[in-house]
Amino acid sequence: MSAHRQLFVTTALPYANGNFHIGHIMEYIQADIWVRYQRMQGHAVNFVGADDTHGAPIMIAAEKAGKTPQQFVADIAAGRKQYLDGFHIAFDNWHSTDAPENHELARQIYRDLRDLPESQGGTLIARKTIEQFFDPEKNMFLPDRYIKGECPKCHAKDQYGDNCEVCGSVYAPTDLINPFSVLSGARPELKHSEHFFFKLSDPRCVAYLEQWTQDGRLQPEVANKIKEWFSVRTNPDGTTSEGLGDWDISRDAPYFGIEIPDAPGKYFYVWLDAPIGYLASLKNLLGKRGQDYEAYMANPKLEQYHFIGKDIVTFHTLFWPAILHFSGRKAPDNVFVHGFLTVNNGEKMSKSRGTGLDPLKYLSLGMNPEWLRYYLAAKLSARNEDIDFNADDFMARVNSDLIGKFVNIASRAAGFLSKRFEGRLSTDFGAVGAALLADIRSESDAIAKLYDTREFGKATREIMLLADRVNSYVDQHKPWDLAKDPANNEALHQVCSVLINCFAVLTRYMAPILPSLAESVQGFIGLDMSQWNVDTNVAAIQPYQHLMQRVDVKQLDALFEIPEPAAPVVEIVPPGGKVPGAPTLPAAPGSLPPKGPDLALGRPGGEEIAPTITIDDFAKIDLRIARIVACAAVEGSTKLLRLTLDAGEQDATGAPRLRNVFSGIASMYQPEQLVDQLTVLVANLAPRKMKFGVSEGMVMAASHGDEKANPGIYILNPWPGATPGMRIH
Ligand code: MSP
Ligand code: ZN
Repeated sequence: MSAHRQLFVTTALPYANGNFHIGHIMEYIQADIWVRYQRMQGHAVNFVGADDTHGAPIMIAAEKAGKTPQQFVADIAAGRKQYLDGFHIAFDNWHSTDAPENHELARQIYRDLRDLPESQGGTLIARKTIEQFFDPEKNMFLPDRYIKGECPKCHAKDQYGDNCEVCGSVYAPTDLINPFSVLSGARPELKHSEHFFFKLSDPRCVAYLEQWTQDGRLQPEVANKIKEWFSVRTNPDGTTSEGLGDWDISRDAPYFGIEIPDAPGKYFYVWLDAPIGYLASLKNLLGKRGQDYEAYMANPKLEQYHFIGKDIVTFHTLFWPAILHFSGRKAPDNVFVHGFLTVNNGEKMSKSRGTGLDPLKYLSLGMNPEWLRYYLAAKLSARNEDIDFNADDFMARVNSDLIGKFVNIASRAAGFLSKRFEGRLSTDFGAVGAALLADIRSESDAIAKLYDTREFGKATREIMLLADRVNSYVDQHKPWDLAKDPANNEALHQVCSVLINCFAVLTRYMAPILPSLAESVQGFIGLDMSQWNVDTNVAAIQPYQHLMQRVDVKQLDALFEIPEPAAPVVEIVPPGGKVPGAPTLPAAPGSLPPKGPDLALGRPGGEEIAPTITIDDFAKIDLRIARIVACAAVEGSTKLLRLTLDAGEQDATGAPRLRNVFSGIASMYQPEQLVDQLTVLVANLAPRKMKFGVSEGMVMAASHGDEKANPGIYILNPWPGATPGMRIH
């Protein structure tokens, strides 16, 4: 670790269409712990965030709320502070992607990419005319998610423009039967429009990104995933991926965004200007301090890091470094990817609903924000794995570990020191005490390294092991027994002084996670806790004040009590999410007439036999026996069940790998009926992101071609003897 690092750190910029949910707070806590640790090491950090304000969903939500988009996002921004302060998240600046700095930077970066001289390979911006659905009533082009219609495959009604939630097929919006605009109900028309593209497929970009993504900087699991995106390959569904494709960076008016230079009526797609918002927020911060942005960025020692969730890796590891690099700017040093937080084994917090654990409710119940910081830290690692907030586990870890093992050390010694020794500490620790204190101090570098590498779970475990050792020292030396006989005064003084000094060191180790507790301890023991300096002894203490309450189970009950349904104040329209309040329209006239059971030879089960394929075609489909190890209803969907499947797979560490698969069989089966049953999994189907999470495959089920006339869908079940993992040939 070099002295005095210069660090520029960000978290992802949240969409300004709703309040923070617990997933956002987790990301901020992770980054905040890292930043606080770096500052304790004496490094200079600028830690910034901003609202991601642009795009069609926010524009539409603002319209629904009867506000201008600017007013709409300003209202959301006004609500941010209480969350950030409440959880001790110490951003140096919070800005907006609609701020002037961002307009300017985005336009300049675009010009730099567009005007690249021939000597450097020429422009990286291309123009292509594309065909897209257009809403003739709203007079705007429609993103896929704003088009619904009947699934071309299973004929389920009311499906989104990109995939069917019922049968799982993926298609283009142009394939939908009787498509309609979610915004107006109108039938969309295909229209041509010229779009601007960033030439990600250009050999310069490919070569640069192959290097940037594969040179060992990224988390291995992230780098491996990205590697696949570079190769030309055949997908399980028979289509081929071409490697990196050009990126469509423009949208037509009306659009809430940044106008493209020299292209009236064309705006940057929100994801082009969103990460530039990192720079805009930094520039705004430096401007407020009278510092020069260009000079700051030009410092060759500057390190730039982005904390993000696993859902936005493409944007941060392909487009973002390429755009920065080829516009002549500094690319990120690294991108730190975390997994998703779920609550009580629940579904992923949806971007729109943020169900589960409401951060403001948590605070309003008087729950200590540092309980959550500690609990999340204890679960976080440097890998991008999902983590679950579990109420029982939370209470156990906070009460038994954080308070029982660590905080209580102070209270076990402070009373005797205040009452018997006027708060002064001994410098004689006795041989055993001195050795213990030295041992605890000697872990400083190891724990520092765990923080630096974002292994917070390991760091808390290390610290708790040290606390265990301090507690066995207490149990061996029993200060309460020593206190009974004045002849033991000196021993009592020694033991209590050892305990407070150990506590001071442990508090420093915990300070990035528990900044407010560290501040109280600073007042109590009179040592500056802002630096990672574990060697100074405590001279004297102030009278002990209670440092932290235990979690009361009643608080947790209240936190997870289902609230009375209230009228929504702000409607949230995430891209890729549902449009609340949008009309669910009946099928437009002209839809296919309902078909009766068809007994004709050519249509068994209501469907013609599909065109002939070869055995090689069939061999592409990898069907496996899987055990349904868990099954649950999906909140918000009447059609889907969430299956957890064991297909006999293992991850790199040899641990069983389970798959999450959604299946449209909720009308037929109770979740508990399916648990422990064997079934058939399409194991090499590309994972698909659905409204409720990612589906990692598909289970096979039989149904009639005409679902209306012959409802019912039946899951397959193998004969006894088949075991998970066996392939079906
Ligand atoms: N606006 C984009 C990011 C633009 S960055 C230039 C966006 N916004 S978001 O509000 O949907 O998500 C913000 C961050 O929160 C992302 O890093 C995302 O991964 C993270 N999370 C959203 N839900 C989460 C959980 N349930 N758990 C952990 N992180 C989650 O994407
Ligand atoms: Zn379908």
